[in-house]
Amino acid sequence: MPDAPIGVFDSGIGGTTVLQAVRELLPNENFVFFGDSKNCPFGTKELPELKEIVKDAAEFLIEKHVKLIIVACNTATTQTIDYLRETFPDIPFVGTEPAIKLACDSDASNILLLSTEGTAHSPRTQELIEQNIKPDQRIDNFPCLGLAEAIETRDINKIRANLADNFKNIPEPEKIDAVVLGCTHYPLASAEIQKFFPNAKLMDGGEGVAKQVKTILEEKGILNTNDKRGEVEYFFSKAEE
Ligand code: DGL
Repeated sequence: MPDAPIGVFDSGIGGTTVLQAVRELLPNENFVFFGDSKNCPFGTKELPELKEIVKDAAEFLIEKHVKLIIVACNTATTQTIDYLRETFPDIPFVGTEPAIKLACDSDASNILLLSTEGTAHSPRTQELIEQNIKPDQRIDNFPCLGLAEAIETRDINKIRANLADNFKNIPEPEKIDAVVLGCTHYPLASAEIQKFFPNAKLMDGGEGVAKQVKTILEEKGILNTNDKRGEVEYFFSKAEE
């Protein structure tokens, strides 16, 4: 069991940003990564469809005999992690939530939360804001339409055009001092996002996920103690042509 891989899934390449953070902390673990590109974006899906999608992704990983599943997606985590835990009680799940706590615990006053529509409108995101915001802080909950899809194309011109369009009406961007990258695709465009908010510190949930994975594996006694570097097996679903 300690030798079994860790499963990771997202709607596509975004989950690799979480995978990277987990591998930095746990370099000897093996991973099975599932990018469900066929169903990208998750961020505009209605809840019943999203539940079907995440159930299929978890089943795919369980068939690969994973010992834990990382939901490397804020959209799926904020809306479906309870459902996944109820549906598959024998496997531990670690979710990825927007790093709102991290931003609120910093000295930032003006916080911009960027995420998909699904994450931005989820009750869980609202709850995270209410639980963590301090009296002298302001959080703008801002859905970035189409940004995860633009990043998924890996086309820098599409990404730049999308960012310019999304951010064109944000007032006084130089006054924002923390930007929460509340979608796992967004760290892949962090250099471009930073250009719009030159004084902001960009924050994401990758490191928090890595620590949580380590804690759970230790508690369950299933940390891989092998001393050789672990491997990753990648799978991507493809849209029918
Ligand atoms: N990367 C995902 C997230 O963290 C999903 C993006 C999408 O497919 O809409 O929210």
